[in-house]
Amino acid sequence: MTEYAEASLAPPPEAAFDFRGRTVFVAGGSSGINLSIAEAFARRGARVGIASRSPERVAAAVVRLRSHGGRAEGWSADVRDAESIGAALAAAHEAFGPIDVLVSGAAGNFVAPALGMSSKGFRTVVDIDLVGTFNVLRGAHEFLRRPGASIINISAPQAANPTPYQAHVCAAKAGVDMLTRVLAMEWGTDGVRVNSIVPGPIGDTEGVRRLAPGPEALAAMAASIPLGRFGRTEDVALMALMLSSPWSSFVTGAVIPVDGGSSLAGGRDLSSALKPAA
Ligand code: NAP
Ligand code: COA
Repeated sequence: MTEYAEASLAPPPEAAFDFRGRTVFVAGGSSGINLSIAEAFARRGARVGIASRSPERVAAAVVRLRSHGGRAEGWSADVRDAESIGAALAAAHEAFGPIDVLVSGAAGNFVAPALGMSSKGFRTVVDIDLVGTFNVLRGAHEFLRRPGASIINISAPQAANPTPYQAHVCAAKAGVDMLTRVLAMEWGTDGVRVNSIVPGPIGDTEGVRRLAPGPEALAAMAASIPLGRFGRTEDVALMALMLSSPWSSFVTGAVIPVDGGSSLAGGRDLSSALKPAA
């Protein structure tokens, strides 16, 4: 992206969304929404690094990313382990140079009442979503382009809507959005912007498969979305491009829903996704 003079604050889209020569790193980028975000940048010329636990998923995603003609690399890493994700970030920096766009999207979820989850079950989700996001951002800071980097945390509606059977996710993602705001303040003077995207229900994703198993639950979920359809992974990717373009150069600390209006209706009834007690 070229630097634009104050007089031309609205560069044409083809320039604003040209990521050739830029480096993007997506934590949790081997599937679903996060992979779609990685692909959106790859299509527009970025060098893309991804990391997640499964080496097989990472390898398959890298093949897909390279099919867009640019450079892509992947590393097997667990965001719960600061050393593991730190090594992946260092390797991406070594391979591609300063990170222009950092996406933290690794997450875990299951549907269970608070009394149906152990302390370890609660902690597992908090460790992946919240501590993992801290590890990704903290570990990346030394490798970010400063000034200029855009950090995007992938949050969830549960961060703001108290949702029964999602105590772990609600607590973890609320923490993620607060990290977004705090680090936007701490790192603003470095020229680093930090924002959250809050996807609504996105079709054909693991997240929705877990929350709405079966056709009836899916139909009820779709009916509750004001725009009348599930989101597409590309809908979320477009916002990630926007938040990394000069069109968002004064946007930081924002928590932005990309949800077809679904958050307007508040929390969800997930009782149909509860596994019967053993
Ligand atoms: P997904 O396909 O399961 O994506 C999760 C990714 O995170 C996978 O690539 C997974 O790969 C990786 N991951 C999980 N645990 C990890 C760990 N400990 N360390 C490193 N990587 C890890 O799910 P999705 O539905 O697309 O969700 C993506 C993001 O969007 C999540 O942050 C989710 O909370 C958010 N979101 C989704 C929806 C939705 O409708 N789907 C709605 C709101 C928010 P490995 O298994 O290889 O580690
Ligand atoms: N109900 C209650 N507790 C559950 C559970 C459920 N449905 N599923 C898992 N847990 C508990 C386990 O019982 C375990 O606690 P315990 O040892 O005290 O019994 C704890 O959670 C950790 O489970 P484990 O399978 O060892 O964790 P993991 O680190 O291998 O996997 C998960 C993490 C559980 C979040 C797994 O579902 C995962 O890897 N998810 C990633 C993909 C995903 O969730 N995508 C959607 C993103 S929105």
